Amino acid sequence: LEIARHRTALKRYDLSRPLRSVLAAGLLSKDETILDYGCGRGGDVRYLSGQGFRCHGWDPVFAPTASCQPADVVNIGYVVNVIENSVERADTLRRAWALARRLLIVSARLKNEAPDHTVGSAYEDGVITARGTFQKFFDQSELRIWIDKTLRVECVAASPGIFYVFCNPAERAAFQAARFRRASRLPPLHRRSELFDAHREVLLRLANFIAERGRPPAEDEWPYFPELRTRIGSIRRALQIIEHVSDTAHWATVRDARSEDLLLYLALSRFDHRPQFGQLDLSMQRDVKVFFGSYQAACGKADQALLALGDMEARSAALSGAAVGKLLPNALYLHVDALASMTLSIRLYEGCARTYAGSVEGANIVKLSRHEPKISYLSYPDFDEHAHPALATSLSVRLQTFQFRERDYRNSQNPPVLHRKECFLPADYPDRDRFARLTASEDRHGLLENPTAIGTRERWERRLLDRGFNIRGHRLLRNKRRLIEHTRDGTGLML
Ligand SMILES: C[S@@+](CC[C@H](N)C(=O)[O-])C[C@H]1O[C@@H](n2cnc3c(N)ncnc32)[C@H](O)[C@@H]1O
Repeated sequence: LEIARHRTALKRYDLSRPLRSVLAAGLLSKDETILDYGCGRGGDVRYLSGQGFRCHGWDPVFAPTASCQPADVVNIGYVVNVIENSVERADTLRRAWALARRLLIVSARLKNEAPDHTVGSAYEDGVITARGTFQKFFDQSELRIWIDKTLRVECVAASPGIFYVFCNPAERAAFQAARFRRASRLPPLHRRSELFDAHREVLLRLANFIAERGRPPAEDEWPYFPELRTRIGSIRRALQIIEHVSDTAHWATVRDARSEDLLLYLALSRFDHRPQFGQLDLSMQRDVKVFFGSYQAACGKADQALLALGDMEARSAALSGAAVGKLLPNALYLHVDALASMTLSIRLYEGCARTYAGSVEGANIVKLSRHEPKISYLSYPDFDEHAHPALATSLSVRLQTFQFRERDYRNSQNPPVLHRKECFLPADYPDRDRFARLTASEDRHGLLENPTAIGTRERWERRLLDRGFNIRGHRLLRNKRRLIEHTRDGTGLML
């Protein structure tokens, strides 16, 4: 059997998903080098080089004479799934890993991505496609286990079918913790103080650090200590000035939020290789000591939270009590921007799926099931623009079996549509009020009665038509009655 490996590399017109994901995660820097190992026709290399990244590529078929030097970041994108020999496949992964100085990005196609026509002609542990190429479609957990076992390093799920392997365990832990850390907001510094105004710049820097970490910096974490000492004397004095211009309660909230974020990370690390205390970077070690006293105490609390999540009734009660979200009998639906304001147990529930699946590109609504441990990521590409956006894709993760189920409605004439968009959103979401005004007027005219009868695009459009309405932008309009005036010559004139 001749397998056409050269045919596996398609022309790329935009950046591949693994590199998009690593770019979005802020893990690529223009100061570092990037090697695209098995770069195919080099589309990603051209794109990244064009953006000013120091990127080069090597491929045994398309660029066999290119240099293949170690690099800070190595991408091995959709290569392992085209290699039919399992020994060569593992060797190839190890070779790419040996070239990575900081980070390896591994991606492979998943079973749920396999087009129907590829299923059928089994070969080794994969299939031969209609194009005569070999493809090994993985399960998400199979891919993770294979990477971990082959490299003897625990990888991180970045996205379905995409994993990051960090060379330094402390960087891995910091990356995972940052993923579950909410954006920080500086508390209002609203009281007047001449001292504060005189040293505003350095004090603002200090306040920002505390807002970010929930605690004051240690000497080696913050480069402005010498300036602060010359200007103000000591950090204690500086903290007093900041407290004087703000409210203590706000700082307590910041600290609670930060310690909860850390707890969330530690709880989720149970599924994902919890690091030893010494494997955390120094900043995280300090966070643990300041917030919990000891690593043991922190991990104990984290495990308790995780254990509580196993109780289905408690989980359902937590979802029913959520301050934001659309609660239906079977699930709570939330916009991803609302996740940050949820309780620890709800964030933990969603976090279990994210630790396993990684971030699902394009997903903006999360469905948290109430009666079975299942999280679904739904993607509504026109959520902001369309009054009643249509569902494009959904990916469900069952937390007991860790199985994916994907649905694609992009070619459907009659996809599910959303109503009452504001319910999914946090209070500060732009345009939330506009969405709420539309819902109020739809409610006034009884258009949202019997919601199960308007769940799909066709049924919703029919209801609008039957009741004599249409929607422009986010405004509900009455259809004009078509009056026909008869002119003298008998022809109708439409007004
Ligand atoms: C599906 S293409 C992916 C190309 C590119 N990384 C992308 O994402 O567009 C698979 C590539 O793997 C390359 N390849 C096959 N065996 C390989 C090996 N042992 N080591 C490195 N690359 C290999 C093929 O030449 C092909 O270009």
